[in-house]
Amino acid sequence: MLARLLAYSLTNFPMIKFENVIKTYNNQRALDGINLQVHHGEFISLVGLSGAGKSTLLKLIIGEEQIDGGKILIDEIDISKVKKGDLPYLRRKIGMVFQDIKLLPKATAFENISFAMEVCGHSKEKIKEEVPKILELVGLEKKSNSFPHEMSGGEKQRVAIARALSHRPVLLLADEPTGNLDEVNASEVLDLLLKINQLGTTVILATHAVDLVNKIKKRVITIEDGKITMEQEQGRYRL
Ligand SMILES: Nc1ncnc2c1ncn2[C@@H]1O[C@H](COP(=O)(O)OP(=O)(O)O)[C@@H](O)[C@H]1O
Ligand SMILES: [Mg+2]
Repeated sequence: MLARLLAYSLTNFPMIKFENVIKTYNNQRALDGINLQVHHGEFISLVGLSGAGKSTLLKLIIGEEQIDGGKILIDEIDISKVKKGDLPYLRRKIGMVFQDIKLLPKATAFENISFAMEVCGHSKEKIKEEVPKILELVGLEKKSNSFPHEMSGGEKQRVAIARALSHRPVLLLADEPTGNLDEVNASEVLDLLLKINQLGTTVILATHAVDLVNKIKKRVITIEDGKITMEQEQGRYRL
């Protein structure tokens, strides 16, 4: 059954389905009856103020937090029924990037990616072949030998995205990836996420930056106090 998890790129059923999902922390509802479907190949922006529940929603998808009500199906498999020991299998197919870019400070861009691949058991040959390709994809082939302190915030975030891509995820979750970046760097990171999506990876972008999602013509989901208050197929977010 597990082999099916996130195994298909083109299917009729949604990749992710939330059915009336409730998540509480200390008896407070962080998510309050979320219904949501994400299809293979989609790019979704999840927009909301700080504390709205965006990170919680992403954590539920990777099984980092457990739900208190409702159901989450990933490729029609109820993830509450996936055994703890099998969660790494699911997570390997999901890439994650965060506002807080955690690169190894004493490792080059190349090494930051190659170490992540080594941990997952890839061979030296495979790593040598793959890393330059991924660096090229994120537009950092010239920064291969640069250390994090020699890169801009946007470049560091692109290395972090490259590292997430090295596992060839079918789903990329980006939690406020532009939160610490200026406008130019933020826009480069956003363009990269769009490119990755065009190449076939499903992307969920969580952000409070409304102006950012207004720039892209993709599906926008607005979350307020743990509830989805607006869904737009394409186009502009309005308050
Ligand atoms: N580990 C936690 N313990 C207690 N409360 C939490 C925890 N994580 C999140 N929350 C609460 O859940 C709500 C949603 O948080 P979060 O998902 O982080 O929002 P967002 O990512 O949209 O800023 C907030 O009220 C937050 O304080
Ligand atoms: Mg958050």
